[in-house]
Amino acid sequence: MENKLLEAMKFRHAAKEFDTTKSIDEETFNQILEAGRLSPSSFGLEHTKFIVVENPELKEKLQEASYNQKQVTTASQVVIILSRIKDVMSNSVYAKELFESRMPKEASEFLINFHGSFTQNFSEDEISQWSKKQAYISAANMMTMAAYLGADSCPMEGFVESQVQEILGIDPKEYGVAMVLPFGYRNQEPRPKTRHELKEIVEFRK
Ligand SMILES: Cc1cc2nc3c(=O)[nH]c(=O)nc-3n(C[C@H](O)[C@H](O)[C@H](O)COP(=O)(O)O)c2cc1C
Repeated sequence: MENKLLEAMKFRHAAKEFDTTKSIDEETFNQILEAGRLSPSSFGLEHTKFIVVENPELKEKLQEASYNQKQVTTASQVVIILSRIKDVMSNSVYAKELFESRMPKEASEFLINFHGSFTQNFSEDEISQWSKKQAYISAANMMTMAAYLGADSCPMEGFVESQVQEILGIDPKEYGVAMVLPFGYRNQEPRPKTRHELKEIVEFRK
């Protein structure tokens, strides 16, 4: 039986440059964003925000902050995935209000306490790393959705976080930059995929 999701995963590759004559239309791109929005997150705290850069001058600056990787200026949309820091710390107002707005009082009180004790000994850096893990799940889902819709992407951690924050006016105490994630359409076919065989990386314990 044809498995469209698996086909999409095989179609996806990390595009090194996009076709600048094509751009992802709004309807398609909104579905990609929706895949990010619907992604799971620890405690349901929705650690992630998305800045969609379409402005050519901003893309130029971001490319400079990304070791001049051409994906950035050739993409039709560049998603900067931000990961919350202050908002997801122990006893934050954001966390409290989110829990209270999403569930009955008893459940929200339980989660406020649980989240509070889970994070209370985290350093700011640990909070930031924890938050970035959530962003990677959104990134994966967005890339798979793009591939499912015939579009391309490139996950990028090759960028200088402080420079990206400065370009976009992001307060580093508020948000980390988890990933620079350009989307567009490939301008050349990728090399065949290389991966370990399943039997080399999977071990069943029955
Ligand atoms: C977290 C992460 C960061 C990455 N950073 C970059 C990057 O900065 N530039 C780049 O060209 N590719 C980057 N890649 C893409 C990988 O090199 C690529 O996924 C891997 O070689 C496998 O190739 P494929 O995705 O085409 O199957 C990154 C991938 C991941 C998951």
